[in-house]
Amino acid sequence: MHKTLEGKSVLVTGSSRGIGRGIAVRLAERGARVCVNYRQDEDAARHTLAAVERAGSTGFIVQADVSRREDVAMLATRVQEQFGTLDVYVSNALGNLLGFLSPPFIVSLAQFDEAFACQARAFFMGVQALNGLMRDAGRIIALSYWPGSHLGGFQPYFAMGANKAAVEAMCRYYAVALARRGITVNAVCAGLTDDSIVNQLPPPARDALLGRLRDGWTPMGRPGTPADIGGAVAALCGDDAAWITGQTIVADGGASLMSPEAPLDFQRA
Ligand SMILES: NC(=O)c1ccc[n+]([C@@H]2O[C@H](COP(=O)([O-])OP(=O)(O)OC[C@H]3O[C@@H](n4cnc5c(N)ncnc54)[C@H](OP(=O)(O)O)[C@@H]3O)[C@@H](O)[C@H]2O)c1
Repeated sequence: MHKTLEGKSVLVTGSSRGIGRGIAVRLAERGARVCVNYRQDEDAARHTLAAVERAGSTGFIVQADVSRREDVAMLATRVQEQFGTLDVYVSNALGNLLGFLSPPFIVSLAQFDEAFACQARAFFMGVQALNGLMRDAGRIIALSYWPGSHLGGFQPYFAMGANKAAVEAMCRYYAVALARRGITVNAVCAGLTDDSIVNQLPPPARDALLGRLRDGWTPMGRPGTPADIGGAVAALCGDDAAWITGQTIVADGGASLMSPEAPLDFQRA
Protein backbone atom coordinates (compact mmCIF):
# COMPACT_ATOMS: atom_id res chain seq x y z
CA MET A 1 0.00 0.00 0.00
CA HIS A 2 1.38 3.46 -0.89
CA LYS A 3 2.67 5.33 2.18
CA THR A 4 0.79 8.51 1.31
CA LEU A 5 0.63 9.56 4.97
CA GLU A 6 4.27 8.89 5.90
CA GLY A 7 5.38 11.30 8.63
CA LYS A 8 1.80 12.28 9.55
CA SER A 9 0.36 12.03 13.05
CA VAL A 10 -3.27 11.14 13.58
CA LEU A 11 -5.74 10.85 16.45
CA VAL A 12 -8.78 8.62 16.02
CA THR A 13 -11.20 8.86 18.94
CA GLY A 14 -12.96 5.62 19.84
CA SER A 15 -10.49 3.51 17.88
CA SER A 16 -10.30 0.50 20.20
CA ARG A 17 -12.83 -1.36 18.06
CA GLY A 18 -15.36 -1.07 15.24
CA ILE A 19 -15.07 1.62 12.60
CA GLY A 20 -12.47 3.56 14.59
CA ARG A 21 -10.14 0.56 14.56
CA GLY A 22 -10.65 0.20 10.80
CA ILE A 23 -9.72 3.87 10.34
CA ALA A 24 -6.68 3.63 12.62
CA VAL A 25 -5.33 0.58 10.81
CA ARG A 26 -5.93 1.98 7.32
CA LEU A 27 -4.18 5.26 8.19
CA ALA A 28 -1.29 3.26 9.69
CA GLU A 29 -1.07 1.22 6.47
CA ARG A 30 -0.68 4.55 4.69
CA GLY A 31 2.26 5.36 6.99
CA ALA A 32 0.67 7.56 9.68
CA ARG A 33 1.50 7.31 13.39
CA VAL A 34 -1.70 6.78 15.37
CA CYS A 35 -3.01 7.84 18.76
CA VAL A 36 -5.57 5.18 19.66
CA ASN A 37 -8.22 6.53 22.04
CA TYR A 38 -10.67 4.41 24.04
CA ARG A 39 -13.05 4.89 26.95
CA GLN A 40 -13.00 1.63 28.92
CA ASP A 41 -11.66 -1.39 27.03
CA GLU A 42 -7.87 -1.17 27.33
CA ASP A 43 -7.32 -4.67 25.92
CA ALA A 44 -9.21 -3.75 22.77
CA ALA A 45 -7.16 -0.56 22.43
CA ARG A 46 -3.95 -2.59 22.74
CA HIS A 47 -5.29 -4.90 20.05
CA THR A 48 -5.72 -1.90 17.72
CA LEU A 49 -2.22 -0.67 18.54
CA ALA A 50 -0.83 -4.11 17.72
CA ALA A 51 -2.61 -3.96 14.36
CA VAL A 52 -1.15 -0.49 13.76
CA GLU A 53 2.31 -1.92 14.44
CA ARG A 54 1.70 -4.93 12.19
CA ALA A 55 0.83 -2.39 9.49
CA GLY A 56 4.39 -1.07 9.86
CA SER A 57 3.67 2.05 11.88
CA THR A 58 3.77 3.18 15.51
CA GLY A 59 1.47 4.85 17.99
CA PHE A 60 0.20 4.87 21.55
CA ILE A 61 -3.06 4.43 23.43
CA VAL A 62 -4.88 6.96 25.62
CA GLN A 63 -7.87 6.34 27.84
CA ALA A 64 -10.11 9.42 27.67
CA ASP A 65 -13.87 9.94 27.70
CA VAL A 66 -14.51 12.44 24.90
CA SER A 67 -17.63 13.71 26.67
CA ARG A 68 -15.51 15.00 29.58
CA ARG A 69 -13.75 18.32 29.13
CA GLU A 70 -10.81 17.44 31.39
CA ASP A 71 -10.30 14.14 29.54
CA VAL A 72 -10.25 15.92 26.18
CA ALA A 73 -7.68 18.41 27.51
CA MET A 74 -5.56 15.51 28.80
CA LEU A 75 -5.88 13.74 25.42
CA ALA A 76 -4.59 16.87 23.66
CA THR A 77 -1.68 17.06 26.11
CA ARG A 78 -0.76 13.42 25.48
CA VAL A 79 -0.86 13.99 21.72
CA GLN A 80 1.39 17.02 22.10
CA GLU A 81 3.85 15.10 24.29
CA GLN A 82 4.05 12.13 21.91
CA PHE A 83 3.66 13.72 18.48
CA GLY A 84 4.39 17.43 19.04
CA THR A 85 1.80 18.37 16.41
CA LEU A 86 -1.22 16.72 14.80
CA ASP A 87 -2.06 16.30 11.11
CA VAL A 88 -5.36 14.43 11.28
CA TYR A 89 -8.11 14.46 13.91
CA VAL A 90 -10.87 11.90 13.37
CA SER A 91 -13.89 12.37 15.66
CA ASN A 92 -15.33 8.87 15.70
CA ALA A 93 -16.17 7.86 19.30
CA LEU A 94 -19.73 6.70 19.63
CA GLY A 95 -20.89 6.98 23.25
CA ASN A 96 -23.51 4.71 24.72
CA LEU A 97 -25.77 4.53 21.63
CA LEU A 98 -27.77 1.53 22.81
CA GLY A 99 -28.57 3.48 26.00
CA PHE A 100 -30.20 6.36 24.15
CA LEU A 101 -31.81 4.66 21.15
CA SER A 102 -35.30 5.96 21.85
CA PRO A 103 -38.13 7.57 19.82
CA PRO A 104 -38.81 11.33 20.09
CA PHE A 105 -41.59 11.13 22.70
CA ILE A 106 -39.98 8.37 24.75
CA VAL A 107 -36.41 9.64 24.95
CA SER A 108 -35.58 11.23 28.29
CA LEU A 109 -33.75 14.52 28.77
CA ALA A 110 -30.86 12.58 30.31
CA GLN A 111 -30.62 10.38 27.21
CA PHE A 112 -30.80 13.40 24.91
CA ASP A 113 -28.07 15.14 26.92
CA GLU A 114 -25.91 12.00 26.73
CA ALA A 115 -26.18 11.88 22.96
CA PHE A 116 -25.22 15.56 22.79
CA ALA A 117 -22.30 15.04 25.21
CA CYS A 118 -20.63 12.34 23.13
CA GLN A 119 -21.39 13.82 19.70
CA ALA A 120 -21.80 17.56 18.96
CA ARG A 121 -20.39 18.70 22.30
CA ALA A 122 -17.49 16.22 22.15
CA PHE A 123 -16.63 17.33 18.59
CA PHE A 124 -16.75 20.98 19.71
CA MET A 125 -14.43 20.30 22.66
CA GLY A 126 -12.11 18.20 20.48
CA VAL A 127 -11.65 20.89 17.85
CA GLN A 128 -11.15 23.54 20.53
CA ALA A 129 -8.52 21.47 22.34
CA LEU A 130 -6.65 20.25 19.25
CA ASN A 131 -6.80 23.29 16.97
CA GLY A 132 -3.56 24.70 18.37
CA LEU A 133 -1.75 21.42 17.64
CA MET A 134 -3.02 21.04 14.08
CA ARG A 135 -0.45 21.62 11.36
CA ASP A 136 -1.41 23.61 8.28
CA ALA A 137 -2.89 21.42 5.51
CA GLY A 138 -4.27 19.10 8.19
CA ARG A 139 -7.51 17.17 8.17
CA ILE A 140 -10.49 17.08 10.53
CA ILE A 141 -13.01 14.34 9.84
CA ALA A 142 -16.18 13.54 11.80
CA LEU A 143 -18.10 10.29 11.47
CA SER A 144 -21.79 10.58 10.68
CA TYR A 145 -24.73 8.51 9.43
CA TRP A 146 -26.64 9.91 6.45
CA PRO A 147 -30.07 8.33 7.06
CA GLY A 148 -29.91 9.55 10.67
CA SER A 149 -28.95 13.13 9.83
CA HIS A 150 -31.21 13.54 6.76
CA LEU A 151 -34.21 11.22 7.20
CA GLY A 152 -36.62 10.49 10.06
CA GLY A 153 -37.77 6.96 9.53
CA PHE A 154 -35.72 5.14 12.14
CA GLN A 155 -37.41 6.83 15.09
CA PRO A 156 -35.19 5.42 17.88
CA TYR A 157 -32.21 7.21 16.27
CA PHE A 158 -33.80 10.60 17.13
CA ALA A 159 -31.20 11.89 19.62
CA MET A 160 -28.25 10.60 17.62
CA GLY A 161 -29.65 11.75 14.26
CA ALA A 162 -30.15 15.28 15.55
CA ASN A 163 -26.57 15.28 16.79
CA LYS A 164 -25.15 13.88 13.56
CA ALA A 165 -26.91 16.69 11.68
CA ALA A 166 -25.33 19.17 14.09
CA VAL A 167 -21.88 17.63 13.60
CA GLU A 168 -22.22 17.90 9.82
CA ALA A 169 -23.20 21.58 10.16
CA MET A 170 -20.22 22.17 12.46
CA CYS A 171 -17.93 20.69 9.79
CA ARG A 172 -19.11 23.34 7.34
CA TYR A 173 -18.48 26.20 9.78
CA TYR A 174 -15.07 24.85 10.78
CA ALA A 175 -14.20 24.32 7.11
CA VAL A 176 -14.61 28.03 6.45
CA ALA A 177 -12.83 29.03 9.66
CA LEU A 178 -9.79 26.84 8.89
CA ALA A 179 -9.63 27.19 5.12
CA ARG A 180 -6.80 29.76 5.05
CA ARG A 181 -4.60 27.25 6.86
CA GLY A 182 -5.38 24.60 4.26
CA ILE A 183 -7.05 22.45 6.91
CA THR A 184 -10.04 20.64 5.46
CA VAL A 185 -13.03 19.61 7.57
CA ASN A 186 -15.44 16.98 6.31
CA ALA A 187 -18.01 14.50 7.58
CA VAL A 188 -17.87 10.88 6.44
CA CYS A 189 -21.18 9.05 6.63
CA ALA A 190 -20.70 5.33 7.02
CA GLY A 191 -23.51 3.06 5.94
CA LEU A 192 -24.56 0.35 8.40
CA THR A 193 -21.27 -1.42 8.99
CA ASP A 194 -20.40 -4.99 9.90
CA ASP A 195 -18.07 -5.54 12.89
CA SER A 196 -19.34 -2.40 14.64
CA ILE A 197 -22.05 -1.30 17.09
CA VAL A 198 -24.54 -3.04 14.77
CA ASN A 199 -23.09 -6.36 15.95
CA GLN A 200 -23.96 -5.43 19.57
CA LEU A 201 -27.67 -5.32 18.73
CA PRO A 202 -29.86 -8.30 19.66
CA PRO A 203 -29.15 -10.99 17.03
CA PRO A 204 -32.58 -10.76 15.32
CA ALA A 205 -32.15 -6.98 14.82
CA ARG A 206 -28.50 -7.35 13.76
CA ASP A 207 -29.33 -10.09 11.26
CA ALA A 208 -32.32 -8.21 9.86
CA LEU A 209 -30.27 -5.05 9.26
CA LEU A 210 -27.17 -6.69 7.80
CA GLY A 211 -29.26 -9.25 5.90
CA ARG A 212 -31.17 -6.52 4.04
CA LEU A 213 -27.91 -5.03 2.87
CA ARG A 214 -26.69 -8.41 1.64
CA ASP A 215 -30.06 -9.00 -0.09
CA GLY A 216 -29.63 -6.02 -2.39
CA TRP A 217 -30.42 -2.83 -0.44
CA THR A 218 -26.70 -2.15 -0.80
CA PRO A 219 -26.16 -2.19 -4.57
CA MET A 220 -22.69 -3.60 -3.95
CA GLY A 221 -24.31 -6.61 -2.31
CA ARG A 222 -22.82 -6.52 1.17
CA PRO A 223 -22.63 -4.29 4.24
CA GLY A 224 -19.55 -2.10 4.59
CA THR A 225 -16.64 -3.01 6.83
CA PRO A 226 -14.49 -0.83 9.10
CA ALA A 227 -11.76 -1.15 6.47
CA ASP A 228 -14.11 0.33 3.83
CA ILE A 229 -14.69 3.38 6.03
CA GLY A 230 -10.98 3.55 6.79
CA GLY A 231 -10.40 3.74 3.05
CA ALA A 232 -12.81 6.67 2.67
CA VAL A 233 -11.11 8.54 5.52
CA ALA A 234 -7.64 7.78 4.11
CA ALA A 235 -8.70 9.14 0.73
CA LEU A 236 -9.76 12.42 2.34
CA CYS A 237 -6.43 12.60 4.17
CA GLY A 238 -4.39 12.39 0.96
CA ASP A 239 -2.95 15.40 -0.87
CA ASP A 240 -5.35 14.85 -3.78
CA ALA A 241 -8.29 15.69 -1.48
CA ALA A 242 -6.86 19.08 -0.44
CA TRP A 243 -9.64 20.99 -2.31
CA ILE A 244 -12.52 19.06 -0.71
CA THR A 245 -13.80 20.78 2.41
CA GLY A 246 -17.06 21.29 4.29
CA GLN A 247 -18.64 18.26 2.61
CA THR A 248 -20.69 15.36 3.88
CA ILE A 249 -19.40 12.32 2.04
CA VAL A 250 -21.41 9.12 2.04
CA ALA A 251 -19.44 5.86 2.04
CA ASP A 252 -22.13 3.16 1.94
CA GLY A 253 -21.67 1.08 -1.21
CA GLY A 254 -24.63 2.93 -2.71
CA ALA A 255 -27.21 1.99 -0.03
CA SER A 256 -28.52 5.55 0.22
CA LEU A 257 -29.23 5.53 -3.54
CA MET A 258 -31.98 2.95 -3.21
CA SER A 259 -35.56 4.21 -3.09
CA PRO A 260 -37.62 3.41 0.02
CA GLU A 261 -40.77 3.77 -2.12
CA ALA A 262 -40.32 0.84 -4.49
CA PRO A 263 -39.93 -2.88 -3.82
CA LEU A 264 -36.37 -4.05 -4.17
CA ASP A 265 -37.18 -6.27 -7.14
CA PHE A 266 -38.26 -3.18 -9.14
CA GLN A 267 -34.93 -1.53 -8.47
CA ARG A 268 -32.43 -4.24 -9.28
CA ALA A 269 -30.11 -3.66 -12.23
N1 LIG B 1 -21.72 1.16 12.99
C1 LIG B 1 -22.35 1.73 11.99
O1 LIG B 1 -23.04 1.06 11.19
C2 LIG B 1 -22.21 3.20 11.80
C3 LIG B 1 -22.87 3.82 10.72
C4 LIG B 1 -22.71 5.19 10.54
C5 LIG B 1 -21.92 5.93 11.40
N2 LIG B 1 -21.30 5.30 12.45
C6 LIG B 1 -20.48 6.12 13.34
O2 LIG B 1 -19.17 5.56 13.40
C7 LIG B 1 -18.61 5.83 14.68
C8 LIG B 1 -18.10 4.52 15.29
O3 LIG B 1 -19.20 3.62 15.44
P1 LIG B 1 -18.95 2.06 15.70
O4 LIG B 1 -20.17 1.37 15.26
O5 LIG B 1 -17.64 1.67 15.17
O6 LIG B 1 -18.90 2.01 17.31
P2 LIG B 1 -18.39 0.82 18.26
O7 LIG B 1 -18.01 -0.39 17.51
O8 LIG B 1 -19.41 0.71 19.34
O9 LIG B 1 -17.04 1.44 18.88
C9 LIG B 1 -17.17 2.61 19.62
C10 LIG B 1 -15.79 3.11 19.98
O10 LIG B 1 -15.95 4.36 20.64
C11 LIG B 1 -15.35 4.28 21.93
N3 LIG B 1 -16.11 5.15 22.82
C12 LIG B 1 -17.41 5.07 23.14
N4 LIG B 1 -17.76 6.09 23.93
C13 LIG B 1 -16.64 6.83 24.12
C14 LIG B 1 -16.34 8.02 24.84
N5 LIG B 1 -17.29 8.65 25.55
N6 LIG B 1 -15.08 8.49 24.81
C15 LIG B 1 -14.12 7.85 24.10
N7 LIG B 1 -14.33 6.73 23.39
C16 LIG B 1 -15.59 6.23 23.41
C17 LIG B 1 -15.35 2.83 22.30
O11 LIG B 1 -14.36 2.56 23.27
P3 LIG B 1 -14.62 1.49 24.48
O12 LIG B 1 -14.78 0.16 23.82
O13 LIG B 1 -13.40 1.57 25.32
O14 LIG B 1 -15.87 1.94 25.15
C18 LIG B 1 -15.05 2.20 20.94
O15 LIG B 1 -13.68 2.30 20.66
C19 LIG B 1 -19.69 6.52 15.50
O16 LIG B 1 -19.51 7.92 15.46
C20 LIG B 1 -20.96 6.13 14.77
O17 LIG B 1 -22.02 7.04 14.96
C21 LIG B 1 -21.44 3.97 12.67
